[in-house]
Amino acid sequence: MDSVEFGKSPVAGPQAWYGSEMRRREQDWSHAWTSSEIAEIEAAIDHIQSQGREILNIRKEDFPLPTVTDRLSEIRRYLLDGPGFFLLRGLPIEDWTIERAATAFWGLGTHIGHACSQNGKGHVLGHVKNLGLDYSDPAARGYQTSARLPYHTDSSDIATLLCWRAAKSGGLSSIVSSTTLYNEVLARRPDLLPMLMQPFHRTRWGEIPEGKLPWAEIPVFMPQDGRIISHYVRSAIRKGQLIDGVPPLTDAQNEALDFVDSLAQDSDIHLDMTFRPGDIQFVCNHCTMHSRTAFEDWEKPEDRRHLLRLWLACEDGPALPRWITESYEGKTGNGRPNGIVVPGVAQNAPLEAV
Ligand SMILES: [Fe+2]
Repeated sequence: MDSVEFGKSPVAGPQAWYGSEMRRREQDWSHAWTSSEIAEIEAAIDHIQSQGREILNIRKEDFPLPTVTDRLSEIRRYLLDGPGFFLLRGLPIEDWTIERAATAFWGLGTHIGHACSQNGKGHVLGHVKNLGLDYSDPAARGYQTSARLPYHTDSSDIATLLCWRAAKSGGLSSIVSSTTLYNEVLARRPDLLPMLMQPFHRTRWGEIPEGKLPWAEIPVFMPQDGRIISHYVRSAIRKGQLIDGVPPLTDAQNEALDFVDSLAQDSDIHLDMTFRPGDIQFVCNHCTMHSRTAFEDWEKPEDRRHLLRLWLACEDGPALPRWITESYEGKTGNGRPNGIVVPGVAQNAPLEAV
């Protein structure tokens, strides 16, 4: 039995935070690169580019960062064992090509974890950009639209975004502690908590690995080693309802999910962040959920909001419940989530949204 009685008492620890408190502690969860750190990163990019090495093949040891390494390893612990998010401000990307920015982003990412595929096309470098897709299309993923994305988790240990181009307006990023959501459900509607600790059926968006069903079954809140591990994609649960063989959601289940959504929207609970070009945000999917507001884009296609994304696996990440280890598609050598692995699809790192 774990040290806390799950479903009966709140879960404490650094993962249980409130946005209202974190707004006052910005220096704890953000850092603006110094000029000497930027020089170090630029030297690492030049080193890679002089070798003509493909982004996909850059490993941690190929991207030497003499002093930035220590900062990144502190950030890594903050992500995996602390509050679970961090913001690095101010890469000078306005002077860079997208290839240079992607190289820096990938290289910094290698110091946090191992990049994995984010979709059925094997993209290990993802692009969050409005491709004009309709979010009501069962196969459309939210990152391909300009729609508001409700609070959700991605299917990796860490998700990280580099802002290449910001929106004309909107597109604000917001994060929330899933441990705090758990504690607040317990405090305000304890009757709903047991349901949220039972599995929900969610679509795999048609990206189905060998031997798996078109859906996965995962609870929203899962106790594990004294922590609450969370997984939540409301749109995937809703779209799962369209799949033959998935039982219909009950009114009580919908009420419980609505309650989680309403808690996450409480400004005392969540934390908003503005992305400027050159900013990198990291989130740990096991202890936070993230969202973004709808956005309005610039006229010219090359100016439009565009974020690069990595999903990172961390071999020493928090222990995960079997719901996740059995449901997630890929697995690293150490059993960590390894993204969306479809047989016969090779990994690739496109420099444009495709
Ligand atoms: Fe996401």
